[in-house]
Amino acid sequence: MRVLITGAGGQVGKDLSLVLAGRVPPAGTATALRGQAPVADDEFDVVALDRAQLDVTSGAAVAEAVKAHRPEVVVHLAAYTAVDRAEGDVAGATAVNELGTAHLADAASASGAHLVYVSTDYVFAGDLGRPLVESDETNPLSVYGATKLAGEHRCPPGASIVRTSWVAGIWNRTVFTLAVAAAGEGRPLRFVDDQTGSPTSSADLAAGLVGFLRDRPSGVCHVGGDGGASWYEVIAFAYEQAGGDPSLVSAISTPELDPPQAATRPTYSVLASERLAELGATPLPAWQDGIGRLVRAIAAP
Ligand SMILES: NC(=O)c1ccc[n+]([C@@H]2O[C@H](COP(=O)([O-])OP(=O)(O)OC[C@H]3O[C@@H](n4cnc5c(N)ncnc54)[C@H](OP(=O)(O)O)[C@@H]3O)[C@@H](O)[C@H]2O)c1
Repeated sequence: MRVLITGAGGQVGKDLSLVLAGRVPPAGTATALRGQAPVADDEFDVVALDRAQLDVTSGAAVAEAVKAHRPEVVVHLAAYTAVDRAEGDVAGATAVNELGTAHLADAASASGAHLVYVSTDYVFAGDLGRPLVESDETNPLSVYGATKLAGEHRCPPGASIVRTSWVAGIWNRTVFTLAVAAAGEGRPLRFVDDQTGSPTSSADLAAGLVGFLRDRPSGVCHVGGDGGASWYEVIAFAYEQAGGDPSLVSAISTPELDPPQAATRPTYSVLASERLAELGATPLPAWQDGIGRLVRAIAAP
């Protein structure tokens, strides 16, 4: 199967490129998903384009890339992911998240390719205090969330829209690299206890995306680390997994953040799914499993 990936230089793009090549992402961060057939090394023929190779804000460049590579599936990962910066750059976030997605949608439709678009829990206000399913009403609180939702609306009816949450991988500096370093030094940390989501290992998400390439289901599906945690809970867990004393991690509330976050985040955006089982798709492992593997890989000498 010929696959074109946009935003392939990002954390999910790197993990997905490895998974589709039949390779396990580094340091054992991913596990085979229970019930999903392993990827054969010749199953996918992947063209992985990073931002320098394909800027999705250019409709002409997107059309040309899709025409040249003739993918059967396009996995559109390129996104303006700087959630706080987007508050002051509506035009920039719109150009990538909404209009860039429209370019991919047009090019995929013109060539008959299936589009897989990865979206976010930040399309929700997260004020219901319970896990959110695909049919719940969207109401983004941030420019990032609003522009990703606008991207969803630009997708053709046959596209797979995979909403995920709080993704971290081995590739970048993240809150988990911070937690591992702090645990090693016995340095205290403060994290908010009033934002709760589904922490997701990027490598696990990449493994989960395989089913969407194979089966090409249409519509929205929630795919995140199973269960929910606040930032305080997930960082205390990571601190402990890295060998530190989790009592050194303390809980604060969002108004106590200094400097304050520019973007308003959902209070409770744990993702649940009423579609995964219906599609016969494989759920991701519990967040503690995926984040535990990630943290141990970061902490490994
Ligand atoms: N990370 C999360 O917590 C999270 C949660 C829910 C959903 N998602 C979604 O998951 C997908 C993958 O995100 P990720 O975690 O892998 O984020 P990431 O590491 O920030 O990757 C996004 C990639 O998109 C690239 N990009 C930005 N503007 C572009 C443009 N105009 N043309 C082409 N590429 C462009 C970025 O390049 P530069 O680095 O050069 O800007 C980056 O390599 C995104 O669609 C994101 O919205 C992420």
